[in-house]
Amino acid sequence: MVHVHVGILYSRIRKDEKLLLNELRERDHTIEKIDVRKQTFDIGEVPEAFTDLDIVVDRCLATSRSLYATQFFEAYDVPVVNSHETADICADKVKNSLALEQAGVPTPNTKVAFTKETAMEAIEEFGYPCVLKPVVGSWGRLMAKIDSPDAAEAILEHKATLGHYEHKVFYVQEFVDKPGRDIRVVATDGEPIAGMVRSSDHWITNAAKGAETDVFEPDEEAKALVRQASDAVGGGLLGIDLMETEDGYTVHEVNHTVEFKALDGAVETDVAGTVVDWLEERAAAAADEELEVSA
Ligand SMILES: Nc1ncnc2c1ncn2[C@@H]1O[C@H](COP(=O)(O)OP(=O)(O)O)[C@@H](O)[C@H]1O
Ligand SMILES: [Mg+2]
Repeated sequence: MVHVHVGILYSRIRKDEKLLLNELRERDHTIEKIDVRKQTFDIGEVPEAFTDLDIVVDRCLATSRSLYATQFFEAYDVPVVNSHETADICADKVKNSLALEQAGVPTPNTKVAFTKETAMEAIEEFGYPCVLKPVVGSWGRLMAKIDSPDAAEAILEHKATLGHYEHKVFYVQEFVDKPGRDIRVVATDGEPIAGMVRSSDHWITNAAKGAETDVFEPDEEAKALVRQASDAVGGGLLGIDLMETEDGYTVHEVNHTVEFKALDGAVETDVAGTVVDWLEERAAAAADEELEVSA
């Protein structure tokens, strides 16, 4: 096993980060905890604390921090997971959907509009119910299932009037009549670590919304889609969300700073251990690349 000097970029140590840190400590890796709230990033000079790092794991909660910090690490030639490209695509539901569609991954039909009027047209084209989502966000927050034109009008008006500018991009999606549950697979570069189904009486079945979780063993179809979806966003440590339909799976999003505490509780697999196996591989591969460049 290689010894890795790993940076953890974070703002809050949640259970997910604890699992990761414990595993890294158990394997005697050197850990540099980088609190994104205390760190400054110089455009030219590599901060002292970063000069010896083999790899950095981005665990920022705030998307904006993730997006900038990953750019800095790449500028400093410090390998970072996930990459800026991956973060950039996954942080934005529009980019996410475009990438999945372009890669030929089945994904719910989606339309984007920039005014209330055209958003209303998109909603009418889908019919009722359909779904309106914020382009940036997670944990199922601020998502709306629209059941009627009256509801559509009210929500669009609220978003247009009260929302900040991201809410003026209207992301409208067909409603997928899933069987009361969806699926989360956590994967490293397309290789599933483990999966879970998340069941709820509510149409939003995120674990963060209190859905019940159970093991999901990816079948061949799911495995193939996980790989394709991962490739579509540039790979990395990812959470791939799927729903079951009459015609097979549909992938509705890929998450880039994926939580794994719910998964860890739902499955037998040692999730953090498998993540660290992968980090070791990535760090070793990055070191090899650097040797080649300097040779
Ligand atoms: N088009 C849809 N049709 C039916 N249910 C959906 C649809 N999109 C999302 N959901 C439900 O809402 C949950 C959250 O949606 P998602 O797009 O993953 O947003 P978030 O980034 O907030 O997790 C999904 O896990 C799923 O249960
Ligand atoms: Mg999701």
